[in-house]
Amino acid sequence: MDSQAVIDACMRHTLFNWSARDNVHPMPIESAQGIWLYGPDGQRWMDFNSQLMSVNIGHSHPRVVQAIKDAADCLLYAFPGAATQARADLSTRLAQLLPGDINTFFFTLGGAESNENAIKIARLATGRFKILSRYRSYHGATNATMQLTGDPRRWANEPGAPGFIHVMDPTPYSYSFGHSDAEIVQNNLRYLEELIMYEGPQTIAAMFIETVTGTNGVLPPPQGYLQGLRALLDKYGILLVCDEVMAGWGRTGKLFAFQHGDILPDIVTMAKGLTSSTIPLGAVGMRDHIAHYFDDHVFWGGLTYNSHALAMNVARACIDVVVEEGLVENAARLGLVMRAEMDRLTAAHPSVKVGRNIGLFGMIDIQKDSAGTPIAPYNGSHPAMAEFSRYLLDNGLFTFVRWGSFMCNPPLIITEEELRQGFAIIDRALQITDRVFQGQ
Ligand SMILES: Cc1ncc(COP(=O)(O)O)c(C=O)c1O
Repeated sequence: MDSQAVIDACMRHTLFNWSARDNVHPMPIESAQGIWLYGPDGQRWMDFNSQLMSVNIGHSHPRVVQAIKDAADCLLYAFPGAATQARADLSTRLAQLLPGDINTFFFTLGGAESNENAIKIARLATGRFKILSRYRSYHGATNATMQLTGDPRRWANEPGAPGFIHVMDPTPYSYSFGHSDAEIVQNNLRYLEELIMYEGPQTIAAMFIETVTGTNGVLPPPQGYLQGLRALLDKYGILLVCDEVMAGWGRTGKLFAFQHGDILPDIVTMAKGLTSSTIPLGAVGMRDHIAHYFDDHVFWGGLTYNSHALAMNVARACIDVVVEEGLVENAARLGLVMRAEMDRLTAAHPSVKVGRNIGLFGMIDIQKDSAGTPIAPYNGSHPAMAEFSRYLLDNGLFTFVRWGSFMCNPPLIITEEELRQGFAIIDRALQITDRVFQGQ
């Protein structure tokens, strides 16, 4: 099939995420290698978003392709009650790699299922019901995780299950806040403690955070927030769950983003980078004090694909690539190059408001005037952003453009030269948003 035939068939017979079908313009992708995507008609794009911020080791890594073939020759599937070599190997390796006493894992099919099961685990282990999460968060599209999610994708899915309480993020939507990190953290935690008092601490099982907020802004926590939050939740016996579905597996320049704050969550959820999206797999990691609760209490959860043998073997291979090929270190090193490129673009383009990054996890915000007004309002759009997105694709770069911002999340195998090449395309595209900027 040529590109158009592929597009027509997909449009006719499938639904796309978060879209009305009339507004969908799918990108035809035939194959992918390393940081490159290829279309059926010879198109080539640099993947500047690791597809869904998830293909951390790059596309079709030869070691992983081989591991999939080897795994297929061995054991494709065993029921979740089985003990398999693949399950033993992956869980042992994860226990070695995760810090502290995060030694026990429940395996799922992706991020939402990991968070769903983390909710269950937190409620069962504490005997409490309520769950806190932040407005600027996305935790998945299943029923409970939609309620856990703070961003506008929740709205059309309400009313949902009770017991989910959303709180303000430490970083407000407007960045013209002008306070120091210490003040922001102090104010936010003081407000959170008051909220906990009003809700009744003995009713709150856990607070979920994206350690570094992803789709809602690539927002690293202000200095001191993670430690302060950890201490506050400890004071009231509330579990801390770090959702590392997007931020985990090297993206931020550490294996897990919570390691930047030198804290240990009670529960960590992961997916995406765990298999670099080659096979659907997620996991909930928990500390010993939680795992031991389930020694003599039933874990009221189950999945046909819990500890799927093929997925376990593939995950093992992906993790080996991340660790043995130094991809975490590469993300940390090239994060500095990304920082420099963002600073260069901010100086050169009046429409660039700010660029944020931590490792190879980055986002640039576009403003429409010198007062710093976002070019698109919260949950809104602007024709210039659509034109900007089209320019990038037409000039060989794929990334996510959302509201008045766009993502900079290439695979962690990218080289410095390729990273600069990507920013050179962005540099030219920003002339489009500069044209609508009003001011000096
Ligand atoms: C932080 C975070 N949590 C959870 C999810 C949900 O993961 P999945 O789409 O695999 O269910 C995502 C997906 O983008 C995510 O970014």
